[in-house]
Amino acid sequence: MFIRVILILALSLFMTLSADDELKEIYKTGNEVSMKLLKNLGKNLKKEMKSSGIVGAIEFCHTNAYPLAEKFNSNLPEGISVKRVSSKYRNPVNKPLQDEEKILKAIEDSFEVTPKGLLQEVSEGEYKFYKPLRIAKPVCLKCHGNSDQIPAPIQKFLKENYPEDRAVDYKMRDLRGAIVVTIKKPVTKDSETAETEVEVEEDK
Ligand code: HEC
Repeated sequence: MFIRVILILALSLFMTLSADDELKEIYKTGNEVSMKLLKNLGKNLKKEMKSSGIVGAIEFCHTNAYPLAEKFNSNLPEGISVKRVSSKYRNPVNKPLQDEEKILKAIEDSFEVTPKGLLQEVSEGEYKFYKPLRIAKPVCLKCHGNSDQIPAPIQKFLKENYPEDRAVDYKMRDLRGAIVVTIKKPVTKDSETAETEVEVEEDK
């Protein structure tokens, strides 16, 4: 199954797969939910940086990033949930499951341009939408870069609060992880579906 997904991913770089309307709907839902969470977290990070500086911001991320995502989840319709995953995670709750790890690796290895989103059929009626996240802003490196880029108080904070931290030594444009939206649909009779749909955008 894994090989099949990769093949479809690679082929899809230069063509659009015809997907039925239901798949498009699921893709759209995944995209909307992931963008909302992304905006929500981004807005809060920006606000904290402005009001309390980088140290205040990391304290805020530490205390609130996960609860914010939990609260966000509790407001989603039944059958839909969202989380962040990364192969090099900082918070162990963001450790990817095996199938998610494979997709992250596929995104890293198979694309020259980052897909905007990607849909995986997990089982009949259950899908995962992936929104790849790259280190797109220099500010990310203040907390995820190398030891020259991370200010001393942040390094101290990381050591104390994330002793197993893996989320450092990133460079600009590196794949940081993904937002994963799981979408469960009631099983329908007409279940002939494509495994993966990919939409690509120019890498900026
Ligand atoms: C002020 C410090 C800070 C900045 C700036 C920052 N992060 Fe993080 N990031 C954190 C912390 C702390 C966590 C762990 C949060 C938790 O405990 O849930 C984290 C977690 C994450 C995660 C979840 C996966 C994991 O490793 O647990 C992603 C994805 C992520 N950051 C991406 C980014 C991106 C992209 C940027 C730039 C837009 C960025 N971060 C900027 C501090 C920061």
